Amino acid sequence: MKFKYFIPVVFVLALVIIEKENNIISRVSDKLALKQAQLILPPDSALQILLKPNQTGSWVFHPRTSAPVLSSLMKRRLETYSSQPDSVQKLGPDSVQPRSKRRHILLLATTRTGSSFVGEFFNQQGDNMFYLFEPLWHVEKMLTLEGGGTNATASAKAYRDVLQHLFQCNFSLLESFIEPSPVDHLTSSLFRRWSSSSLCADSVCGPFVPGGFEKFHCKTRKCGPLNLTLASESCLQKEHRAIKSVRVRQLETLRPLAEDPSLDVRFIQLVRDPRAVLASRIIAFEKYRNWKEWATQGDVPVDDDEVRKLKGNCDNIRTSAQIGLRQPQWLRRRYMLVRYEDIARFPMRKAAEMYRFAGIPFTPQVKEWIAKNTQVSQTEASGVYSLQRNSSEHVEKWRFNLPFKLAQVVQRVCRPTLKLFGYKVVNSERMLTDRSVSLIEDKVFNSL
Ligand SMILES: *[C@@H]1O[C@H](CO)[C@@H](O)[C@H](O)[C@H]1NC(C)=O
Ligand SMILES: *[C@@H]1O[C@H](CO)[C@@H](O)[C@H](O)[C@H]1NC(C)=O
Ligand SMILES: *[C@@H]1O[C@H](CO)[C@@H](O)[C@H](O)[C@H]1NC(C)=O
Ligand SMILES: *[C@@H]1O[C@H](CO)[C@@H](O)[C@H](O)[C@H]1NC(C)=O
Ligand SMILES: *[C@@H]1O[C@H](CO)[C@@H](O)[C@H](O)[C@H]1NC(C)=O
Repeated sequence: MKFKYFIPVVFVLALVIIEKENNIISRVSDKLALKQAQLILPPDSALQILLKPNQTGSWVFHPRTSAPVLSSLMKRRLETYSSQPDSVQKLGPDSVQPRSKRRHILLLATTRTGSSFVGEFFNQQGDNMFYLFEPLWHVEKMLTLEGGGTNATASAKAYRDVLQHLFQCNFSLLESFIEPSPVDHLTSSLFRRWSSSSLCADSVCGPFVPGGFEKFHCKTRKCGPLNLTLASESCLQKEHRAIKSVRVRQLETLRPLAEDPSLDVRFIQLVRDPRAVLASRIIAFEKYRNWKEWATQGDVPVDDDEVRKLKGNCDNIRTSAQIGLRQPQWLRRRYMLVRYEDIARFPMRKAAEMYRFAGIPFTPQVKEWIAKNTQVSQTEASGVYSLQRNSSEHVEKWRFNLPFKLAQVVQRVCRPTLKLFGYKVVNSERMLTDRSVSLIEDKVFNSL
């Protein structure tokens, strides 16, 4: 099996070396390389249960039976898939002819840190950008275990593999996580499709189907179900690609992305004062009801699961940032830390910095969007997921929503995180709600 492909590989390599500058040869090798890509999957990998080659050798999704039984079966399969040794998936079309200027931006955050807002900085870039909003939502959903939560090791690997495929404009792995499973690469269920302008653009907007139900339909125009083949084609045409995700827990798990020679990944880690994050989550998320109760009555148990989770989140964010700021070889020039508070106070300046870091043009469209969306009046801002807000005012609001005793809990379990990011600890209720005391220390993070 391997030998059979050895000769074509050598042949391709020879051609590439001899005729490196020749476009025609490159195109031929491109085609051959795609064929080789199929080889890269370990032959006995559990992924084969998901993706089976049909007679012509294309990987197609193994037809599923139906509904709930399958869903837990799928989970088990995917867990097995994640326990396989790393498969190398480097032979996307990009790798054959890497374009030196192409950038892959990964905006990493956690929920309620303003990542939708900051994601817009890239979503609004214009015609050169392919932007995806939370594609890993599907992966997390499918990997969620019966009792809630995911196996961190298994999901980290799945997240990374899916991101790597998406940065190469390959939706096939993501497709295997979408429920219900896309038919002919067509889906009505892509999570918040409307949040990616790339997925609602002319070139990706298929014919509208009257009466068809689409939970995440485009808002700017009527489109049919999302054709992922079209999405992939459109993605390949764009110079740059950006993905935002609140699901990656440890930056280190993404190291293979940074080291993939076919990609030029820039990680932007967005952080926010964990006290503000907690305040916001209590308002936005039903599952924070214990916190809500503690806010209004009773004491926070010292050793509670929720408190442990909070500490775990803070620790993950801090360790990721520490690795990034230490600038190991694999992250050289690839990591930038941004505080939401700085973006809220100086949106234009911070956006310009992020663009400079990413090495892509800061377009007039982005500037316009930022100008328009950071100066709206209070009455115009609405809804928990609202993007339009007076961001400078918004940034301090939590201080009047979070009871001092909850602020103290966060300060107890997240102290090293607060310190690293320059968030001042408060020692009284009065200090918490005293607007004249800023809780944000000026801090420059060494990002370049
Ligand atoms: C195999 O799958 C590819 C891609 O989905 C498809 O174009 C082709 O027609 C399939 N071939 C057969 C024999 O089913
Ligand atoms: C999580 O997944 C990994 C690899 O997929 C496996 O080795 C490990 O046993 C799992 N952990 C738990 C707690 O199930
Ligand atoms: C897309 O990813 C799948 C699964 O890893 C792989 O089999 C296929 O060759 C990839 N397609 C391209 C065009 O690289
Ligand atoms: C999706 O788009 C591709 C590329 O244009 C096209 O070949 C295919 O027929 C479309 N699929 C469906 C189901 O319309
Ligand atoms: C936004 O909030 C800041 C701080 O409260 C205030 O100074 C500014 O006038 C507000 N801007 C608008 C447009 O409402």
